[in-house]
Amino acid sequence: MIKILAIETSCDETAVCVLDANRLTDNQVDFNVLGNITLSQIEQHREFGGVYPNLARREHVKNLLPIMNQVFTDSKIELGSIQLSVENEAKVRDYLAREPGLADQLIEWAVNHNPVNIDCITVTAGPGLAPALWVGVNVARSLALLWNKPLIATNHMAGHIVSGLYPDKEMKLPALSLLVSGGHTEIVSVQSATNFKKIGKTLDDAAGEAFDKIARILGLPYPGGPEISKLAIQHRDQFPEYQHICDLPFPMRHSGDLNFSFSGLKTACKKIIDASDLTPEFIAGFSREFEETVVNILVTKLTSAINKYCPNQILCGGGVLANAYLRSKLETLSQEKGVEILFPSPRLSGDNAIMIAMAGYFKAEQKQYVHPDKLTAISSWSIDTIFL
Ligand code: KG4
Ligand code: ZN
Repeated sequence: MIKILAIETSCDETAVCVLDANRLTDNQVDFNVLGNITLSQIEQHREFGGVYPNLARREHVKNLLPIMNQVFTDSKIELGSIQLSVENEAKVRDYLAREPGLADQLIEWAVNHNPVNIDCITVTAGPGLAPALWVGVNVARSLALLWNKPLIATNHMAGHIVSGLYPDKEMKLPALSLLVSGGHTEIVSVQSATNFKKIGKTLDDAAGEAFDKIARILGLPYPGGPEISKLAIQHRDQFPEYQHICDLPFPMRHSGDLNFSFSGLKTACKKIIDASDLTPEFIAGFSREFEETVVNILVTKLTSAINKYCPNQILCGGGVLANAYLRSKLETLSQEKGVEILFPSPRLSGDNAIMIAMAGYFKAEQKQYVHPDKLTAISSWSIDTIFL
């Protein structure tokens, strides 16, 4: 059994979790959440129409320690105190030099909140927004040093990949993963829970980003994905016989590889929207056409990947997996191909610390630790680059 504290601050969610992980078999782990909080900053970012990195950073600085304190209370974990050495205090002040005020607050809290039974600390080191990532990374380095706990750098996308295994799903290797979020659209070959190879990626915008941009042009609030999806569902219910009237492009359909491109689709959409009256009927119909086009692109490329790699399982992850239409089409694909597909539950599809704890656990089993002095935020950390 391994007990992990996980911290996630890669974008606009401040998230902390304490997770117990118990290996059942070579391919199966039982994950048990003892305490978990995800604080979304969406309301603060909405007025900017997207995530504003320095605002995200400030909010993480303000909220991370209070959230951790609450997660410790919820988890009912045993807390002890530590002796603060002069060297460690100086190091922590150095780690937190970019966050004035945070060092005092962290040291005062940490000296009598040592989670004695926690085996290790894991933090998202990338990919993500650098100013946001640094807050979690520097807090994790400080706590690992003060409490003398092993530290693990977790890749945010590895978290999304393993999120579908919660709470105790069997992993069937080799697997493929479809990752669709605000920053990424990737197909990954999963050789083990810590060994990944990217086999397809977007050459420009991510699918979630395309949802958000089109929503903005349609006058819908940020984040646009859920808004477009809501309108598309209503439109499908209301007009089951509807035929597409816009002929939206499928960039890279014949590229012969597993890569995506969404910027051409965005430009084509913008042209149509600019030339149309933004009536509620148009917005709903267009939302549906756009959603169905993006889902068709994702499912078609995943189908090619399945044909090529013959996986035993598909692990889906990322915020866009909250999309019900995408899930239903992926379910159909899973039945057609006879390959199991796992989705994260709703609380695990958006950014959260449970998935970071899970991905961190697999590295902890292999003792892939990093010294606090060595850990940095890596904003463009690719899933197939090993970093310790
Ligand atoms: O994984 P995530 O929470 O954050 C990143 O790591 O990017 O993904 C956020 C993205 C946003 O672009 C949001 O619009 C999209 O996921 N999203 C959706 C839906 N819910 C969230 N896109 C389409 N349909 C949804 N229901
Ligand atoms: Zn994410």
